[in-house]
Amino acid sequence: MMKICVFGASGYVGATVYEKLKHASEADVVGTYLKEPALFDDLYKLDVNEPESFSNFFKSEKPDVVVWAVMSGPNEHKLTDQGLMHLLTHLTPQTKLVYISSDFVFSHGDGPYSEEDPLSTLPDDHSFSNYANGKVKAERLIDNEFSNYVILRAGPIYGENAVGKLDDRTDRLSYHLRSTKPIDFRDDLTRSFVHIEDLTNVLEEMVFNNVTGVYHVGPEKKQSFYDFMKATARQMGYDETLVIKGSEEEEIDTEIPKDTSLITDKIKEVTNQRFR
Ligand SMILES: NC(=O)c1ccc[n+]([C@@H]2O[C@H](COP(=O)([O-])OP(=O)(O)OC[C@H]3O[C@@H](n4cnc5c(N)ncnc54)[C@H](OP(=O)(O)O)[C@@H]3O)[C@@H](O)[C@H]2O)c1
Repeated sequence: MMKICVFGASGYVGATVYEKLKHASEADVVGTYLKEPALFDDLYKLDVNEPESFSNFFKSEKPDVVVWAVMSGPNEHKLTDQGLMHLLTHLTPQTKLVYISSDFVFSHGDGPYSEEDPLSTLPDDHSFSNYANGKVKAERLIDNEFSNYVILRAGPIYGENAVGKLDDRTDRLSYHLRSTKPIDFRDDLTRSFVHIEDLTNVLEEMVFNNVTGVYHVGPEKKQSFYDFMKATARQMGYDETLVIKGSEEEEIDTEIPKDTSLITDKIKEVTNQRFR
């Protein structure tokens, strides 16, 4: 039976992937978590940055497919340099790696971007540099060291996940609107928003098929945070006029990439999944 390991199975995306795969009868699925409490009883506690415990875990489980759904915003570099490096040294050429990456690998922000566009990094002192540059480094490492991989690049992921948790942004929106407090979102930042169910459906397909390579996930439609969150407020039955435009003034070293939207034509060649 195929053995699948989901690293980060307590996270927003990882939990959904873990739940989905658990119900796929053709697989034996293990998942890891780090911080207590674990989201599911049967997860294995593991700090992927710890070489010895990583090695012990990997050697005992010997997965055929690895889903890498760990993230650590301010420590993403460490996760790449340590955790991902440990993983790459343990993978056999037959093991398939499914890595979830981000639109922030295009941090110049002059999108929309296709899979072939060159990646760009942020200056080291930028507040998002650890996350964005950590992801760029990870993608380059995977591509240099390995060939049996799928990298799925996603913009902001939204919606209720398999355990009923909303993404932080929608959660904040609903908290504000429930108490009829206005909330602002920027209209000058353009993204490809992807629903968690659509993303994880594609990811599940990638676990079981023979497709490899880099793919952008999400709908054709690109939106600003302001437009997207206003539409979300409307769909949730709230007063959308409480969603207002946020200030576009910013310091140069914290400037947020403007347009990191993704061209998502390529993924249509390998999946019938439609993106809402
Ligand atoms: N959310 C988005 O909008 C978005 C957009 C684009 C791409 N992505 C990518 O999607 C992936 C999943 O993101 P997410 O939103 O699900 O993040 P998340 O909810 O923060 O989950 C990340 C998980 O990583 C685990 N983790 C962190 N450091 C670890 C370590 N040293 N050892 C073991 N586990 C560790 C955490 O485990 P514990 O909770 O158990 O501590 C956490 O559950 C990431 O690769 C992220 O870059 C996310």
